Amino acid sequence: MNEQRKASPAELSPEIIEAQFAHASAVARFFADRGMVGERAPRCYVQTFGCQQNEADSERIAGLAVLMGYKLTDRPEGAKLILVNTCAVREHAEKKALSIIGQYKHLKDADPDLLIGVGGCMVTQKHRADQLKNSYPYVGFVFDTGSIHTLPSLVHTSLGGGKRSFNVGESTGIAEGIPTARAISYKAWLSIMYGCNNFCSYCIVPYTRGRERSRSPEAILDEARKLIAGGAKDITLLGQNVNSYGKDLDGTDFPSLLRSIARLDGDFRVRFMTSHPKDASDALIRVMAEEEKIVRHFHLPVQSGSDAILNRMNRRYTAEKYIGITERLREAIPDISITSDIIVGFPGETEADFVATMEMLRRVRYDMIFSFIYSPRKGTPAAEMADQVPHDVSTARFERMLALANEISLERNRRFVGRTVRVLAEEVSRTDPSKITGRADSPRPIHFTADPSVIGQFVNVKITEADTFSLTAEMV
Ligand code: 5AD
Ligand code: SF4
Repeated sequence: MNEQRKASPAELSPEIIEAQFAHASAVARFFADRGMVGERAPRCYVQTFGCQQNEADSERIAGLAVLMGYKLTDRPEGAKLILVNTCAVREHAEKKALSIIGQYKHLKDADPDLLIGVGGCMVTQKHRADQLKNSYPYVGFVFDTGSIHTLPSLVHTSLGGGKRSFNVGESTGIAEGIPTARAISYKAWLSIMYGCNNFCSYCIVPYTRGRERSRSPEAILDEARKLIAGGAKDITLLGQNVNSYGKDLDGTDFPSLLRSIARLDGDFRVRFMTSHPKDASDALIRVMAEEEKIVRHFHLPVQSGSDAILNRMNRRYTAEKYIGITERLREAIPDISITSDIIVGFPGETEADFVATMEMLRRVRYDMIFSFIYSPRKGTPAAEMADQVPHDVSTARFERMLALANEISLERNRRFVGRTVRVLAEEVSRTDPSKITGRADSPRPIHFTADPSVIGQFVNVKITEADTFSLTAEMV
């Protein structure tokens, strides 16, 4: 890290991080003294649920595990340390994590030296931390979303037979300088800020990730340069609402940060998520139109097409205002792919409200939507609202919406047929091992026949066929 740069006000002091690195060294010595190095190094399994922010956090969790002398593994069996990074955004995610943590009991029974720690949004809620403490005695510690940097001390204490630890909600600082361990080099997450101030009435995130804190632009640019030097070709800037970036700093904002990143040297592209429509500015649209390295994709969650519901969701925009943003986007960048998140069955949603959301889909014509049935979250205002929508009504609406969204997706995907696009070859296709899967600006996967040696590189392909969920192409 550059010592001269101006720190973000939210940044933790370097001494705090140094103290954790000392714990990490102590853990590494503990294993070295027992000959557990190289091939005999203890294994650590990091399991991730939820959003891209969690994926990014897990890279730092894994980075700290490596610093402590662990070798990463992709399965829980045989691991000496299991770290579960949980999600709380919907009930289903919590249930799944709890069920999997439950299954780890037998691993702990078979190996008393196994340490199990649980982090992420689920355990940042005190009632969940207490539940793990009381009902999951084989879980040694939890670490909340603001305390990832404390993993070395938690592991060190546990290895020494110290007390189980279930404190959450204490740290909100930004920890700079934490190492990352990334499974692939050519795609990278880059967190530019943490937390959310918006308090959409259905959402747990402001409670689990705290208030908005921006990283300093120097720290972000420094990390971006390192990622590019390390072979990153596709960088996703992450924040719960990237448009608020810099509101807690002097003299910077998201459009200018994005422009600086897009102007770094190297053959890479940059994308970002998520944008709250209430703050999507014309300045941002201009930067996107002007800078070639910015992917022509805008994820702009609308959540609902009904003004009454948007108001009860505390979203602070109207359907008309939202449509205005998409029109300006399309005017500036005619071919842009627009995607959205939509919640069906929010409390009080009538058939007319739902029809307004369907109308929104028809007007905006999304390349893709992520749709969710509303899930009440303890502690959020919407969970207390009257008129919760019966599950069968939500499910039926959800199905109708998917059918329409898929029809529109197919139509949108067809516009690419016959075009040559620049694709980042990402992986061997999961359904057809003779094919490679990659992506261009649209979030839809593109499958094409090529040698696996192209993985990690940009290649030009000509789109030959469009389906609802994917495109087929050939190399040119
Ligand atoms: N129920 C259903 N969906 C939710 N989301 C957030 N909170 C809830 C909830 N309580 C959805 C929103 C958000 C996406 C990440 O998850 O659509 O944009
Ligand atoms: Fe949740 Fe709204 Fe913040 Fe997104 S903007 S994280 S939906 S509160």
